[in-house]
Amino acid sequence: MRATVLKVLAAVGALLALAGLLALGRMWWDSRLPSTYNVMDFGSHDFGGGAVPAGHHSGGVSVDGLKGPQGGAPDARFTLTAKQGTMRLPSGRTIDALTFDGKSPGPELRVRRGDLVEVTLRNADVDTGVTIHWHGVDVPNAEDGVAGVTQDAVMPGGSYTYRFRAEQQGTFWYHTHQSSAKEVRRGLLGALVIEPSAGAAAPVDLVALAHDYEGTPTLNGADRVTKRRVAPGTPVRLRLVNTDNTPQRFTVAGTPFRVLAVDGTDVNEPQPLENTRLVVAGGGRYDVGFTMPASAVELALQDTNAALALSPDGRGDLPPPTSGSDFDPAVYGRPRPTPFDAQSRFDRTFVLKVGRKPGFYDGRPGIQWTINGGIYPDVPSFVVEEGDLVKLSVENDTDSVHPMHLHGHHALVLSRDEQAVTGSPWWTDTLSVEPNERYELAFRADNPGLWMDHCHNLKHAADGLTMHVVYAGVTTPFRVGGGVHNHPE
Ligand code: C2O
Ligand code: CU
Repeated sequence: MRATVLKVLAAVGALLALAGLLALGRMWWDSRLPSTYNVMDFGSHDFGGGAVPAGHHSGGVSVDGLKGPQGGAPDARFTLTAKQGTMRLPSGRTIDALTFDGKSPGPELRVRRGDLVEVTLRNADVDTGVTIHWHGVDVPNAEDGVAGVTQDAVMPGGSYTYRFRAEQQGTFWYHTHQSSAKEVRRGLLGALVIEPSAGAAAPVDLVALAHDYEGTPTLNGADRVTKRRVAPGTPVRLRLVNTDNTPQRFTVAGTPFRVLAVDGTDVNEPQPLENTRLVVAGGGRYDVGFTMPASAVELALQDTNAALALSPDGRGDLPPPTSGSDFDPAVYGRPRPTPFDAQSRFDRTFVLKVGRKPGFYDGRPGIQWTINGGIYPDVPSFVVEEGDLVKLSVENDTDSVHPMHLHGHHALVLSRDEQAVTGSPWWTDTLSVEPNERYELAFRADNPGLWMDHCHNLKHAADGLTMHVVYAGVTTPFRVGGGVHNHPE
């Protein structure tokens, strides 16, 4: 009798274990991404509380039809050739890099606002393929450079031409958006500066681009102090760009300074700052301005050997490093009217909640990133219609920082942790969302297309922290996946 009960219990236990295993196997099987797929075929469609747009299922416009101006002679024309190469840092260290035109960072592209820009990308020998994304520039969708969404990756021997009008002005950067977690880290990136349409830029106008090569932090590719001669009284503008996955901490010593722009948008009435550390989000930019004093000024990447030292004699006894509080764009500068604000009536309201849970991502078990509870590709696409005013809440329920980057749009920060922004209007394209923070953003849906919205810690994006903002009726002929060599992340 007793023995029979035990046998039955053992059988039931075995069945349960088997069922559990089967369920787990099913989860694993279901998580595997097909060899090629259309980014639109997965996940759910979130309409943000608005009506389902009439054109949503009709598929009226292909990404291919959303190109920049095709006719007309360009005002600025560049060719960038992606190739493998060895680069030598000033310290003597050599890096096995991927370069544009043989260097990393690639050539600094400078254009003027209003210019028709034409860039031809050639791939010499990067066998995983290359594209160029114009980070922070709200280009037409087909010029956005996302492999498998707006174009096919350019394979060795191939080329692709981008054309767009530079409608913004400020500090931007460009990088490959094919296997970006690996290729950007290895060096396929550079600065893009859009100067004002008229008038001279500051007499001294320098990019300070931070990048980590194989664990060595650099500024403009130098892992040392770079010295420059600047006459006292000269207006100076420094354009800080963080091309890394994690926040970079810049210090400015030897002068008071102002933060003139955030993510390529001017700050309204910036006040002078001192002893303030500038923490720039992965993918983010800050422009800093000051008038050159009679003694040396140093812009440094904190706790590294990389720095830019400006001094009247070009040699410069460096000023002592500063410490102090962190710059906060939410309370800096002065308010001024914006095209919309927290009181506006929004057509759609979306929530993007970043979390973690155990599960499978493309067949790999682990603690995965989630968006609104789902593991990629089980994530929502936010569907909008052209003209919509959109509110977006971003919440971080993890203990990592996530620099969230929406392609093709600039968003106005309304609040952080329910506190309204009190300084200058704060427009962002790459917003550092700290653990347990919650932001409210607003943007106008004025640039039709399929737009990535992802974490610019590119390692996180490659692990699934990515989704799309989709305009109703827009479709793509391109496909993601191994079968077609398109791997945007
Ligand atoms: Cu700078 Cu989608 O990236
Ligand atoms: Cu992240």
